[in-house]
Amino acid sequence: MEVLSVTAEIYPLIKTGGLADVAGALPAALAEQGVTMRTLVPGYPAIMAKMTDGRVVASFDDLFGVKAKLIAGQAAGLDLIVLDAPALYDRPGNPYLGPEGWDWPDNWKRFAALSWVASELGAGLVEAYRPQVIHCHDWQAGLVPAYVKFGPASSVKTVMTVHNMAFQGNFGGEIFGQLRLPPHAFAVDGVEYYGGVSYLKAGIECADFVTTVSPSYAAEIRTHEFGMGLEGILNNRPSTVDGVLNGIDLEAWNPATDPALTQNYSANTIQYRKANKTKLQESFGLDKSDGPLFAVVSRLTWQKGIDLIAANIDMMVAAGAQLAVLGSGEVGLENAIRAAAQRHPGKVGLVTGYNEALSHLIQGGADVMMVPSRFEPCGLTQLYALRYGCIPLVARVGGLNDTVIDANVAALSADVATGVQFSPPSEGALANAIRRTLALYADEKSWKKMQKRGMKSEVSWQASARRYAQLYASLIGYKLDDNSDD
Ligand code: ADP
Ligand code: GLC
Repeated sequence: MEVLSVTAEIYPLIKTGGLADVAGALPAALAEQGVTMRTLVPGYPAIMAKMTDGRVVASFDDLFGVKAKLIAGQAAGLDLIVLDAPALYDRPGNPYLGPEGWDWPDNWKRFAALSWVASELGAGLVEAYRPQVIHCHDWQAGLVPAYVKFGPASSVKTVMTVHNMAFQGNFGGEIFGQLRLPPHAFAVDGVEYYGGVSYLKAGIECADFVTTVSPSYAAEIRTHEFGMGLEGILNNRPSTVDGVLNGIDLEAWNPATDPALTQNYSANTIQYRKANKTKLQESFGLDKSDGPLFAVVSRLTWQKGIDLIAANIDMMVAAGAQLAVLGSGEVGLENAIRAAAQRHPGKVGLVTGYNEALSHLIQGGADVMMVPSRFEPCGLTQLYALRYGCIPLVARVGGLNDTVIDANVAALSADVATGVQFSPPSEGALANAIRRTLALYADEKSWKKMQKRGMKSEVSWQASARRYAQLYASLIGYKLDDNSDD
């Protein structure tokens, strides 16, 4: 099966969050299931610089008013088709934001162009390459299903994966005339949304199948509380919406070989984590203490419940804990953590910005990874934490609910607990969960057992890659060899 994946970010070339990890890991995971996946990405400088043996497979004199080329080639071991349109993508920094931190004003055009080109590939733009399915990630690829639905007849099928309902790509209705869609696409069964244009709504409405990244989030987004206005559209098509849990790349995230760690280790040599903890304490200006070291690796946003952590820091420090925070995001949240670090020198540390290597060292050295999200489509940090023997402390929502087993009395006595969950996402409930975690940490033997259990948790892509392969097959009428355990 030939599948074209369309994404605005892909690890290791360009990453702002979990979407990049997923887009980067899927092709290899799917190859084992007999799927050939190429990925269409914008030609950002970071990607253009890494392309080797690129060949021009199509050119456009007027792609939404700019000149563009489509280049097929390899970068960082990934099979890419790159939309080289310098007027749209040859810009510094983040895929979505300008240097001042604001959305690029022409984002509607940058991602409409990407999506239009994907649909053209589906319709046979390049003779030698005919994807059977286009797998669209998030709002940036949300117009693909609309272009396929309203464009020239083609047999290509579309899957829309929602990684986060909070980002919808909503624009004013005035852009519609420039989208290269027929007038009747500006309607409820097309791209129209409350008089404007919504890229994510278009994708959910027009795709042959909609997935999100965990079973719990798939159920949550059908409700008013989590659907962010799109629950009605999802509820109109219940049999073609599903949750497929993310996995992680077991090679990129392997404590036994990870070059970012001071000391590599496995479940059997978990005591070696100590050297990483010491290095981590140094990196964050923390005292060398044997007390529990809590950590955060996250976008600092309301979604991630960072304010709930800030509200609990004084209590944590009073109880003998340390906290290391790596992240960037909302200024108010950064300032709240920075103020706590100033109040508690040697106990609380903040590193702002994006630092891939440091994120690995944190997983390999911290005792507890905090993910107190208000909503979490899947969440990858808790999966990395499990693999690294760092105990996840998570809110009971979305993918966090599906991947961490709470250390309640029953789970502890059945030897299945892998972390701590709490609900609802409030300051008080988090405080209780922190106290519970501190008590668990004090029991060294059972803590170690829980770490080892987490390290053996199933966090690979295998089952979910199989699920995606089955989905593609069902859409194009293929029968897969039944060599799996399902
Ligand atoms: P989301 O995609 O919502 O931000 P995920 O948990 O799915 O959340 O993925 C976050 C990814 O981004 C993980 O790979 C995490 O390690 C990484 N990450 C987040 N913030 C930083 C940071 N400041 N530095 C390095 N990596 C980060
Ligand atoms: C989004 C979600 C996160 C998920 C990631 C990858 O960024 O916020 O929960 O893990 O996408 O699917």
